[in-house]
Amino acid sequence: MAEDLKALADRAVADIAAAADDAALEAARVRYLGRKDGVLSEATKRVAQLPAADKPAYGAAVNEAKRRIEGALEERRAALRASAIERELGQEREDLTLPPRRVRVGRLHPISQTTRDISRIFASLGFETVEGPEIEWDYYNFEALNIPTGHPAREKWQTLWISNPLGDDPSRPLLGRTHTSPMQIRVMEQRKPPIRVVIPGRCYRYEATDAIRESIFFQYEGLAIDEKLTMSDLKGVLYAFARQIFGGERKIRFRVDYFPFTEPSAEIAFDCFACEGRDPQCRVCGGEGWIEAAGCGMVHPDVLRRVGYDPARYQGFAFGGGIERIAMLRSGAPDIRLFYQNDLRFLEQF
Ligand code: PHE
Repeated sequence: MAEDLKALADRAVADIAAAADDAALEAARVRYLGRKDGVLSEATKRVAQLPAADKPAYGAAVNEAKRRIEGALEERRAALRASAIERELGQEREDLTLPPRRVRVGRLHPISQTTRDISRIFASLGFETVEGPEIEWDYYNFEALNIPTGHPAREKWQTLWISNPLGDDPSRPLLGRTHTSPMQIRVMEQRKPPIRVVIPGRCYRYEATDAIRESIFFQYEGLAIDEKLTMSDLKGVLYAFARQIFGGERKIRFRVDYFPFTEPSAEIAFDCFACEGRDPQCRVCGGEGWIEAAGCGMVHPDVLRRVGYDPARYQGFAFGGGIERIAMLRSGAPDIRLFYQNDLRFLEQF
């Protein structure tokens, strides 16, 4: 009897191995293991009629046959699945006639482009580009620049104060830098003259936004320290810069201004590159003929002294202006807020 079962299992395993597809495999499964009239179920039923002594051996033989048949089914199922995948992969073909997907090439943000232009132009004049922290100590943003607490000039730079995550120290207030001028101090502390650096960077002011003001914006700062530097060096550098950034034979106008950290101080304006002063309706200069662009001056002797430079030996000049303003002037963009709205219709024009 047990011999019969072994022969039965042999036959079943061979049948299963020969099943050509899922349907044939399923038919073989039903034939051998089917609950109702599967061959093995029939054999199982026969246990009841056997003498008690023969039952254990026969039962074991049934189980063994069942195990082998199930194993064969599983194996064949896996083999059929694998060859189906093979077949599918073999049939797939790339469709070389499909039109390619359009690739959208990104570009630099207009403010990044302008910043790079500024750095490149000043590099050609011997200025190295450096960067500094946007979160700044009151000391660098104000104190070291001759603007102590209570100085009325502080009102010119509406400040966003920041609480120190490491614990506030009332003697060391933190702020979002309101201009890039604190980097004048940091650079002078770290280096020895001669110095020629330009510092582009983000600044923060606590003020309402409008067409020409943003509370987060970019400035560029210039600083040169050397022996025998004069105001005419400052003028020459800014003159060369104006001609390169706006093109053509630019004129520059210096008018007396006041900054606590420069003496003398001046406001710089470029003659209008769009109308050259000839259009009273000009959309760039508003008919003024001049575009106010930056503040500048000779570094104040007290500032030099504070970083340990001897003002009798060293002089310097500094200047600082808005980067968005330059980008707006060059592109004709009417509103500073356009730069920060992430609208591709605007950004793709640059
Ligand atoms: N930091 C000044 C401002 O933000 C500009 C400036 C820079 C003036 C350097 C003089 C020298 O208004």
